[in-house]
Amino acid sequence: MTDFLIAPSILSADFARLGEEVDNVLASGADIVHFDVMDNHYVPNLTIGPLVCEALRKHGVTAPIDVHMMVKPVDRIIPDFAKAGATYITFHPEASEHIDRSLQLIRDEGCKSGLVFNPATPLSYLDYVMDKVDMILLMSVNPGFGGQSFIPATLDKLRQVRKMIDASGFDIRLEIDGGVKVDNIREIADAGADTFVAGSGIFSKVRAEDPHHYDTILRQMREELAK
Ligand code: DX5
Ligand code: ZN
Repeated sequence: MTDFLIAPSILSADFARLGEEVDNVLASGADIVHFDVMDNHYVPNLTIGPLVCEALRKHGVTAPIDVHMMVKPVDRIIPDFAKAGATYITFHPEASEHIDRSLQLIRDEGCKSGLVFNPATPLSYLDYVMDKVDMILLMSVNPGFGGQSFIPATLDKLRQVRKMIDASGFDIRLEIDGGVKVDNIREIADAGADTFVAGSGIFSKVRAEDPHHYDTILRQMREELAK
């Protein structure tokens, strides 16, 4: 039985009440906090950095924080996120001049490392680094914004990566990010994902509208995964 992990993307949370939002979604049964870092350079949007990660830790968040860096360059900011309490740090291989070095730097800083693949990024970037990644993240939308639709070709890509991970014998999580909802999470799991990022699929209503919304969505996702 695979241990499926659900990772709400706080990109769609209410940033004015971020600590409370993260507390609430974790209390509803989420496993990991997915933390989207955008730099208005590698991707056309600007979000949050190490200070906000540190603020969540100071607020009392103890769950793993999964820092998805959509930034270029990559290396300069890695130690800052490690100090800020990141658990996973993942980056896009196109954004790093020296992928092997960036992966090692993440592990040297005491974090878990990962590579992120855009919909059209080839998997060959993994060829010589399977022993240096703890997570492989497949984007099922083009990075930069929440609320986009899942690109179906990602299902085949997931199946390919699942084979690569199983053949490698390494303990590597396979994460999917973009357009994950209650109604497609089961087929995404069937294609081989074990870690599910969902932003707009979870933070689609504010607490004032429905105080139990996160409980409901998380329960529905778990039910789908248990099928
Ligand atoms: C997009 C981000 C995602 C985003 C997903 O660049 O990496 O994590 O928040 O949002 P949804 O789940 O709404 O597609
Ligand atoms: Zn993300």
